[in-house]
Amino acid sequence: MSDIKLTPPAGAPSPVEAIKLKSKGLRGTLAEGFENAITGAVSADDQTVIKFHGSYQQDDRDRRAERELKKLEWAYSYMIRLRLPGGEVSAQQWLGLTKLCNENASGVIKITTRQTIQIHGVVKAKMKPTMEWFRDLGVDTIAACGDVNRNVMAGADPTLSIFHEDVFRFAQGISEHLLPKTNAFTEVWLDGEKLTGDEPEPDPLYLKHYLPRKFKIAIATPPHNDTDVFTNDIGLISIEENGKFTGFNVSIGGGMGTTHGNPETYARLGTVIGFVPKEKILDTVWQIVAVQRDFGNRSDRKFSRLKYTVDRLGVDVYRAEVEKRQGFTFQDAKPYNFIERVDHYGWQEDHNGKHFCTLFVESGRVMDLPGYPIKTALKECAETDLCQFRFTGNQNIMLTHIEKEDRVALEHILAKHGIDHTRFSNIRKDALACVALNTCGLALAEAQRYLPDLISKIEVLLAKHKLENDPFSIRMTGCPNGCARPWAAEIGFIGKALGQYNLYLGGNSTGTRLNRLYKESLDEKEILQTLDGLFEVYAKNRSNGERFGDFIHRTLDFGAAA
Ligand code: HEM
Ligand code: SF4
Repeated sequence: MSDIKLTPPAGAPSPVEAIKLKSKGLRGTLAEGFENAITGAVSADDQTVIKFHGSYQQDDRDRRAERELKKLEWAYSYMIRLRLPGGEVSAQQWLGLTKLCNENASGVIKITTRQTIQIHGVVKAKMKPTMEWFRDLGVDTIAACGDVNRNVMAGADPTLSIFHEDVFRFAQGISEHLLPKTNAFTEVWLDGEKLTGDEPEPDPLYLKHYLPRKFKIAIATPPHNDTDVFTNDIGLISIEENGKFTGFNVSIGGGMGTTHGNPETYARLGTVIGFVPKEKILDTVWQIVAVQRDFGNRSDRKFSRLKYTVDRLGVDVYRAEVEKRQGFTFQDAKPYNFIERVDHYGWQEDHNGKHFCTLFVESGRVMDLPGYPIKTALKECAETDLCQFRFTGNQNIMLTHIEKEDRVALEHILAKHGIDHTRFSNIRKDALACVALNTCGLALAEAQRYLPDLISKIEVLLAKHKLENDPFSIRMTGCPNGCARPWAAEIGFIGKALGQYNLYLGGNSTGTRLNRLYKESLDEKEILQTLDGLFEVYAKNRSNGERFGDFIHRTLDFGAAA
């Protein structure tokens, strides 16, 4: 095996490769571009470069027609995503972030499916002040998007294990270890020292061309797979032996995105390649990333994620190359078992006697809804300074590190505002939706603005079949990039066109089995009719305790669509 000559796929590099190479360590012409007040946009090249700074240029797609009629350029603004490994901020940081979001952005903080937050609608002139404000709050956005390792996730629930804090710190450690070395971020946004000459800071991992594509790492602690570990390029499963945290089973090659109509693209769950003691894991992840850097596809970005590299080279060849570079072999994977993936809402006590509370945030949008003013409630909780805030990969928020005697004050605030998860159905509480319209330039259909309404209609069907108390995992995205991991849901909706979705069925509740395409381009009426029929059959024929996804997987004929 070691004799195999490894090469990247043939083909001319994609235009993005040239942009990265000439960006002088991710500087591009961002500094000049953001000083240009004539347009709300930046150059096409800088739109690529700015992703590495945690931001996407977007426009308000609801307003395109109106702007075009008035012969105005589109209403450009920027989405900014934070790098928050493990997804934690202090109460003071939360207060600052909400104030910032009110003043400089849309006012709605979005808790993402990867355990961080992002804000939308920051106009060009507010970008630099916003980045400075982040700095003052002690957070940053470096590498939150772009062809680099992005936010590192870690299971959010502190009761997961007695060594939870230890595992949690690895998310921070890995994030730091894989950060780009360029000083571009401070130079562009924070008046940092300017690069002299054209040679950027040497970067032993990313070199000058960074990775072929985005890279995602998550840690899960069995039996809880709340980070959906197998949907990541690298999934780390923390292992306990004789009551001690000893290391990680390592999975590689997970990824969701596909392209409609291109059967060569596919969603893939990661493959476990072995166990690594915790002391050596930083080296292992570094080398896995470096092998992808060297052999990933740089000519066609549709095939540049690690999953395609792993399948092209073969899992064993990939593992052998990592072993060669890291100088030690993987041990056999250790036994583990995932039994669930959902958040546990409400109050719990962790192993250190601290209390914490998981609150439901529909589609991760922190905004005051009639009868559910979650934004106000969170602000008041933060003002007490009695808790910290932790985001979950299920788009929810936890109040954490609460002393027993302080709990009552927070309970009082939550009760006052009616922040009570028991008011919501299981199906609603376990659902995920990506942003999609109106800001995502890639969206073909609605997701977070529509899923809550669709769920209300599905709830009626569930009640009809006496299934209203059963758990289901539903996920919706506005396009097949799959930002809310729809292929890992029991019921996945993937936007095809406005008001039309492909329906995927048969994933499981632990995130270890993908679903399959069942029907294409359904409108709402067809979705509800289809689900009505399936729920009826499920309610009548399921075996004891069998989940919907498992029942579908066992019984349904997917026909030619699959
Ligand atoms: C080709 C693949 C993908 C592309 C081009 C892409 C692009 C984007 C864009 C443009 C946004 C910004 C939307 C907005 O804020 O308006 C976004 C959001 C996001 N994406 Fe992706 N994405 C891809 C796949 C994925 C996958 C597979 C995941 C995770 C499994 C993911 C995770 C996220 C997250 C967490 C957000 C933030 C908002 C949310 O939670 O929905 N993305 N993506
Ligand atoms: S899944 Fe598609 S529509 Fe949704 S946020 Fe990602 S890129 Fe946009």
